[in-house]
Amino acid sequence: MTNKYMYFIANWKMFGSLKSLNSLHKVLKFFKTFRKKRNSKLIYCPPNTLILPLSKKLRNSPIEVGAQNCHENDYFGAFTGSVNSKMLKDVGAKYVIIGHSENRANGETNKLINLKIKSAQKSGLKIIFCIGETIQEKRKKITKKVLEKQLSLGLHKIKNRKNILIAYEPVWSIGTGIIPKSHELLDTINFIKKKYKNFKVLYGGSVSPKNINEIKSINNIDGFLIGGASQDPKKFIDIIKKTYN
Ligand code: PGA
Repeated sequence: MTNKYMYFIANWKMFGSLKSLNSLHKVLKFFKTFRKKRNSKLIYCPPNTLILPLSKKLRNSPIEVGAQNCHENDYFGAFTGSVNSKMLKDVGAKYVIIGHSENRANGETNKLINLKIKSAQKSGLKIIFCIGETIQEKRKKITKKVLEKQLSLGLHKIKNRKNILIAYEPVWSIGTGIIPKSHELLDTINFIKKKYKNFKVLYGGSVSPKNINEIKSINNIDGFLIGGASQDPKKFIDIIKKTYN
C-alpha cells in the first residue's frame, strides 16, 4: 500500500509483567530487518513498572519506549502514587500518551491534559495526544465539535508543536472490535489535519490483523495506536507487515 513513514505504537494499558517482556524478542528481531526496508517507527508504552527493564532491553535497538500518562507537575512533590514526566524520562521513556479516553473517563479534563502536555514537553518527552468522541456524541453528530474542543483546549498556549502526535481514538471503538466506516474516518482525519496543519494523525481503536487491510486503505493516516493486539507479538507483527503489503 504505502511507502509512507508510519508509526506503530503499542499501548499495553494495565497489562504486562517482567516475564512478558521475554516475548518481545520476536518483535525486535522482526523489526530490526523490517525497518531497513520500510520507513517506520515502533514504540512500546508499557505500564510504568516496565519502562526501565524494557528500556534496558531495547537499548541500541530501533524500538523506543513511552509511558501511558504523567502528572501535570514537572517538579518533585508530595503527590502520593503519582509519577511525573521527569521521572519517566529518567527511566528511559521518550514518549508519553496523554489524554487517553480511559483517563478522561476518570476525570481528566482538557485543562489538566493541557498542563500535562506542557510538563511533558518541559521534560523533553514527545507526546501522543489522544482525542475522540463518545458514542453519545457521535449519535448527536457533534464529533467534530468535540474534537475541535479537545484539540484547542489541549493545545492551548503551546507554541512548539513539533513533538506532538495526535491519536484519534473514537471511544466507542476502543476494545470493542468496532471500527469507524472508512469514509467517516477519512473525513474526520482530514478535518483534524486541515485545522491543525503539520500534525501527524494516528488512528486507534480495535486495530487488529483482521481489519488492518481496511483501515490502511485510508491514506491520510500516519500510523496506529494499538491496545489489545499489541500484547500479542504475532498479531502486532502481522499488523505492521499488512500495513505495507
Ligand atoms: P484497543 O485500544 O486497540 O484495544 O482498542 C486502543 C487504545 O486504547 O489505545
